[in-house]
Amino acid sequence: MAGSQIRLGVAGLGRAFTLMLPTFAADPRIALVAATDLRPEARKRFELDFSAPTYDTVEALCDDPAVEAVYVATPHQMHAAHVVAAAARGKHVLVEKPIAIRLEECRTMIEAVRRAGVQLVVGHSHSFNAPILHVRKLIDSGTYGAVRMIQAFNYTDYMARPRRPEELDTAQGGGVIFSQGAHQIDIVRLLGGGHVRSVRAMAGNWDPNRRTEGAYSALLTFDDDVFASCTYSGYAHFDSDEFMGFIGEMGLPKDPARYGIMRKALRAASNADEEAALKAARNYGGSSYAPPGTAPENRRHQHFGSIVVSCERADLRPMPDGVMIYDDETARLDSVPVPRIPRSEVIDEFYDAVVNGKPPLHDGEWSRATLEVCLAIRDSSQAQAEITLRHQTGLRGAVR
Ligand SMILES: NC(=O)c1ccc[n+]([C@@H]2O[C@H](COP(=O)([O-])OP(=O)(O)OC[C@H]3O[C@@H](n4cnc5c(N)ncnc54)[C@H](O)[C@@H]3O)[C@@H](O)[C@H]2O)c1
Repeated sequence: MAGSQIRLGVAGLGRAFTLMLPTFAADPRIALVAATDLRPEARKRFELDFSAPTYDTVEALCDDPAVEAVYVATPHQMHAAHVVAAAARGKHVLVEKPIAIRLEECRTMIEAVRRAGVQLVVGHSHSFNAPILHVRKLIDSGTYGAVRMIQAFNYTDYMARPRRPEELDTAQGGGVIFSQGAHQIDIVRLLGGGHVRSVRAMAGNWDPNRRTEGAYSALLTFDDDVFASCTYSGYAHFDSDEFMGFIGEMGLPKDPARYGIMRKALRAASNADEEAALKAARNYGGSSYAPPGTAPENRRHQHFGSIVVSCERADLRPMPDGVMIYDDETARLDSVPVPRIPRSEVIDEFYDAVVNGKPPLHDGEWSRATLEVCLAIRDSSQAQAEITLRHQTGLRGAVR
């Protein structure tokens, strides 16, 4: 691709786009040139904000010759069809996590991008966060010996936030295993080397009004007897950001006085349509959408809960300011500069793939392997058995 800017078309102007917009708007390597969404208010706002066209369908967006790459941020169950539509028209793709909801869809997507000779990067996921990549580099340095065990732990109110009906239907990718496992498992695989051998898990489906998995606990085994324990609760009243100094997922300070605010907001919806409308209203173009302000001075790294990597000679802990290293002599912070633009790590990888032809870390095969672990969490819980995996892959792209 010629030129130093990626001309990006956006498929889906919802929550994911709302969170990525500060990145796209501030990063000079990206120009937003077109969009599509089902919500007319979002399209209208996009046309005004970016003086750019919007389209009725993803296919029409991908037909626009001005679009060089497509950011697919539609619901999970549509990712496969929309990635294939973009690849078939010769467009590179950045698709939101999870890559898809079925392994066969991943095969179709991987084949489509390979056939078209375009790049596929799956993200944002919190495994792109600079402190996570820094832990990986510390492991690779060999200073602290081999990884022995990983602990990942996150307690949130995910299940108490307004949702679309599909987000509460496991068959359509609903629940925390698909949505939040895609972050946590991606991080744990990146730190454990990628190749998960087996999964034994239990998942909780505890809310009679929201019939999907809202919590899980999984034991993953890797090669060389490395193991990881991964726990996520989306039903939580306790907020594990307390363990990160009340720095939230987005790297911003959290006010503990706002305790329970989402549960209260959700009570305003008396049925599924009202709940979906409540979610859409907060998104780009919606009636209660607040445009992102300028980055506050106290912005830190984004994170996805507590992670501790136990190596032979040290424990490593990614934090909002860098990586805590606990070795035989000291406990110290190895600080990692906070990127000037939030989530610019995603653009680093996407830009390097699209413009410089560098193989991305979060490619189709990598992300299919993460999905395979997520599916195994669901299946292990249902079958009450350990599941052996078949589509795992190691770290092929370079860690930046
Ligand atoms: N990485 C992150 O931090 C993050 C955060 C939120 C969501 N996500 C991911 O983004 C994806 C979307 O989730 P969301 O929470 O943004 O959902 P959402 O409901 O907020 O947004 C989805 C948007 O897609 C639009 N849409 C639906 N079908 C469409 C179609 N056929 N053509 C064009 N537009 C269509 C909807 O109108 C809506 O505006 C999911 O895969 C989710 O996992 C990622």
